[in-house]
Amino acid sequence: MFVENILIKDFRNVKSLQTSFSKNLNVFLGKNGQGKTNLLESIYLLVNGNSFRYSNNESFINYSSEEKAKVSLIQSVFHQNNLKYNLKMTIQKKSKEFFVNDKKISSAQIQKKFSVVLFSPESLSFIKESSEFRRVLLDEFLSSIDSKNVDIISDFKKALKNRNRLLKDFRDAKIPKPQFDPLFDSLTELYLAKAVDLVWQRLEALDKIKGDLNDNMQYISQSNVDIFVDYVASDESFLGFSREKIAEKLKKRAEELRSAEVSSGSSLVGPHKHEILFLYNQKDSRFFCSQGQQRAIILSFKMAQIVYHRRVHGTYPILLLDDVLSELDSEKRFRLVEFLEKLETQIFITSTEIDAVENLNKENVKIKYLDNGIIKDDRD
Ligand SMILES: Nc1ncnc2c1ncn2[C@@H]1O[C@H](COP(=O)(O)OP(=O)(O)O)[C@@H](O)[C@H]1O
Ligand SMILES: [Mg+2]
Repeated sequence: MFVENILIKDFRNVKSLQTSFSKNLNVFLGKNGQGKTNLLESIYLLVNGNSFRYSNNESFINYSSEEKAKVSLIQSVFHQNNLKYNLKMTIQKKSKEFFVNDKKISSAQIQKKFSVVLFSPESLSFIKESSEFRRVLLDEFLSSIDSKNVDIISDFKKALKNRNRLLKDFRDAKIPKPQFDPLFDSLTELYLAKAVDLVWQRLEALDKIKGDLNDNMQYISQSNVDIFVDYVASDESFLGFSREKIAEKLKKRAEELRSAEVSSGSSLVGPHKHEILFLYNQKDSRFFCSQGQQRAIILSFKMAQIVYHRRVHGTYPILLLDDVLSELDSEKRFRLVEFLEKLETQIFITSTEIDAVENLNKENVKIKYLDNGIIKDDRD
């Protein structure tokens, strides 16, 4: 899988840009604020539909033109299993649209076909962030190993949205109690079914990744550390639970929390509240690990995702590394570079200094210097 080229119009600080990529290694160099991350983001968005940075549609659209742009365009040729795909995305204030070979499709359909894995300084701090970041980490792994999980995640999100809307309408007295009660019960049943699907897949995924996660952790840290990942809901570990047991637990919790949900106007039970805990030699990594150890866990998790993707699909995902090499200490950088060198996949790296990538031995390297949203001296 690789991206052959990209055409960007009015996206972030890029007014107009067209360039082609190496199948192996691409390096975006430049000072801060020149558009290196914006370029990675455009590739990420094309495949995932959403960005890795907090943003609404409007923030993507270039605002610097005298006549303010109303739409961003990102267009690319992707290759997968000897087939070529024209991917196109348009972003307007109120909508994003995706096209494959000029046919409009949902972002979920693109997500099922292509995969990218992003390493960013933010992702390296997922251990100390709120539990939401670790759920995203795990759900990205779920989506990348089996396309049916893309639907399971999106079905759950829809069910959550519907249930929250009903709870909020009732709290705001927009719907009377006799009407609310039966509607809420039937929605809850549907919602819990989707919740159980997602929790079950998350538990399966944790089971699948644990071997590679530990192997990579030992490789990166060159020590015999043990990483154990726990899945916790309402202070209880769900590891080893059957689907029936998960269903029973969530149902019971929904009954207990019914009145709290009604008064808060939002769903308090479900996988959007669950915690994923990384235990480092049996100790909670949030409290007992140094920043370096926390970063090593996330790096190992992402490396495990890449290796596992290759095992199930026969190909590696595309890798996007945003300013991470300079963020790592020399030992971890050395290990990551060694790992990257062995992968037969397309890699994009951004950096302010060429030194950060000089040790990475790859053929067909393309280096692009970014200056205020423009690639300088591009030979394509
Ligand atoms: N919608 C937008 N229109 C114009 N410029 C934008 C927009 N969104 C972000 N920018 C600019 O993009 C630049 C950041 O680009 P980024 O890719 O993050 O830089 P870096 O090269 O450091 O990775 C900033 O100068 C920011 O002001
Ligand atoms: Mg950047």
